Amino acid sequence: MPAPDTSALGPEFLWGAATAAFQIEGAAAEDGRSPSIWDTFCRVPGAIDNGDTGDVATDSYHRWPEDVSLMRTLGLDSYRFSLAWPRIVPEGTGAVNQAGLDHYDRLVDGLLEAGIRPNATLYHWDLPQALQDRGGWPERATAEAFAEYAAAVAARLGDRVTDWATLNEPLCSAWIGHLEGTMAPGLTDLTAAVRTSVHLHLGHGLAAQALRAASPGQVRLGITNNLSPIEPATDSEADLAAARRADGHINRWWLDPIFGLGYPEDMVSLYGVELPLQGDDLKTIAQPLDWLGVNYYFRQIVADDPTAGVPGFRQLPGPGSQTAMPWEVHAPGLEQLLLRVTHEYGARELMVTESGAAFDDVVGADGRVDDVERAAYLDSHIAACVRAVAAGAPLSGFYYWSLLDNFEWAYGYAKRFGIVHVDYATQQRTIKRSGERYAEIIRTHKGTN
Ligand code: IFM
Repeated sequence: MPAPDTSALGPEFLWGAATAAFQIEGAAAEDGRSPSIWDTFCRVPGAIDNGDTGDVATDSYHRWPEDVSLMRTLGLDSYRFSLAWPRIVPEGTGAVNQAGLDHYDRLVDGLLEAGIRPNATLYHWDLPQALQDRGGWPERATAEAFAEYAAAVAARLGDRVTDWATLNEPLCSAWIGHLEGTMAPGLTDLTAAVRTSVHLHLGHGLAAQALRAASPGQVRLGITNNLSPIEPATDSEADLAAARRADGHINRWWLDPIFGLGYPEDMVSLYGVELPLQGDDLKTIAQPLDWLGVNYYFRQIVADDPTAGVPGFRQLPGPGSQTAMPWEVHAPGLEQLLLRVTHEYGARELMVTESGAAFDDVVGADGRVDDVERAAYLDSHIAACVRAVAAGAPLSGFYYWSLLDNFEWAYGYAKRFGIVHVDYATQQRTIKRSGERYAEIIRTHKGTN
């Protein structure tokens, strides 16, 4: 099958893949790294499938040169990774651990030498446990500590890294970590969750200011949100209202404040929690964004469900094919989202900072992984990007999630998202058929342009 026609994306389009520190680095106790809330959560009996931990993961703390060389083989333009706060400021505030920063210094140099542009995320959920012990994100001091950490990172890497994201998917930290309880720190407390969401946003704004102050003129600043188009299960009044609430909970709560619209009033009154805002906080939160990262996995078809707790909806399975998560594969949802953030929020530049799928990969007798479903997922989601650009979305890049199979949070190592297979017993990496397909799409794109 020929690769999808991507010429509409233009010659400067960035092709990338993404990972996150806790999911790949391992080396949990090396070079001064302190425990994060995920190290703690992994020790809670039953929290993680199979009792898996991030202690070794894909050992990328040591094997990053091999990972970079895989990126070159795939023809990637850019690599999106995150930095581990507990490596850099082990106590959360105060002393900066240069040995922890050395790792990212080497990685960034290695990427640049390979002609791969770094796209660095400051926070992908691995809060230093020391800060959790002092109250964590429900406390304002954590947002302030985040800005301190951002400044330390920028002082060391700001001369070479231009593309920065403050937070990855703050929805997961707040709603899943503090309300649903299936991610670290494992709380089920609406007040803590709402306070967390506001402090994450405040941390984003303060960190943006710190990055820009440290590297004036060089920073291209973004934030990545996991968003979903929402559809009511039926056209009953109750389901329509549930869809509006779901949209508030999943999309508007995370977009409105960073685009200067404040927190959506309907949701503020639904949550019934006093927002911990002071003075000019809303202005701080709404720092100008150079780009918005969209992480897309699935749409949500929702029905009213007053028994589900705030915000009172439940998600129904969609009719399309399912991944191993199981999440419905629905590429048009990506196009829809990109157009929504373009037209409704006026985002000036967009990147798909994550999109990907887990399947139950089988390693063949020849050692190859023939993951045709993931290759098809790539085709259909890239085609959705092309349609969105043709309809006016200012999309400048696409990062597949993930470069490698890795630690999939509460699912441990059971769910594989990579375009590169990892044998966890030997750490051997093998490019899957989907990786070959991605490389072909990239080559064809560059040939076209
Ligand atoms: O693995 C995660 C990633 O850490 C954040 N976005 C979704 C991915 C798949 O669940």
